[in-house]
Amino acid sequence: MRSLLLICVFALICAVRGAPQTRAGDLMPLDVYYESLCPDSRNFLVNQLNPSWATLSTFTDLRLIPFGKATFQPITEGGWSFECQHGPDECTGNILHACGIKYSSTITQALNFTTCLMDLPTDGELCAELAGLDYAPIDICQMSIEGQDLVHDHGVETLNLEPTLFFVPWIIYNKVWDLSNQQDSLTNLTAVACNNAPANTPACSVKIPSRI
Ligand SMILES: *[C@@H]1O[C@H](CO)[C@@H](O)[C@H](O)[C@H]1NC(C)=O
Ligand SMILES: *[C@@H]1O[C@H](CO)[C@@H](O)[C@H](O)[C@H]1NC(C)=O
Repeated sequence: MRSLLLICVFALICAVRGAPQTRAGDLMPLDVYYESLCPDSRNFLVNQLNPSWATLSTFTDLRLIPFGKATFQPITEGGWSFECQHGPDECTGNILHACGIKYSSTITQALNFTTCLMDLPTDGELCAELAGLDYAPIDICQMSIEGQDLVHDHGVETLNLEPTLFFVPWIIYNKVWDLSNQQDSLTNLTAVACNNAPANTPACSVKIPSRI
């Protein structure tokens, strides 16, 4: 009787100590590495991330990191030159995205701007207006070393990913990349995000059949 009680006490302690680090109410880190002219990135932002954002924003800490499979070289006069998977226009686009993200006051505004650019890659001014952003600082940023430095920083982060990025968009929950999370997010983002969120996340208890 007494040993049974002890076992129960130990089991309870172990269950508590083994609980995940994140609790309901904590924001779950969600990092999205992408490229401005990449069709898979477009598909993900336009058809998954942006439409899911009303739900996901209640429990995720989203970061958008435009760079993807680009490379960079220092320029002798200062700044950086880039080579991008979908050509030079993608490098220009990554800089515009990075500047817009920097000058957004919320990640919701940044996602609105970048999603708009996915369909209208050269309409920075219009996308800024639709997102409620002042275009002037974004324009100065994209034409100067400021924008190059932002994308260079994204590049350093992207090139240091473990494991090395082999698909774009590259999607990471809780700072740990996982193949099935990566693949399933492309078609079923809300479900995957909820599966990686702390138990009892209110936005998830409504929709996920397996939690009923
Ligand atoms: C951006 O926000 C505006 C204002 O809420 C909205 O009309 C527009 O559809 C949004 N754009 C995207 C791409 O979500
Ligand atoms: C999305 O995920 C949910 C929950 O895991 C699952 O029930 C549903 O079948 C999935 N849908 C697709 C299209 O994969």
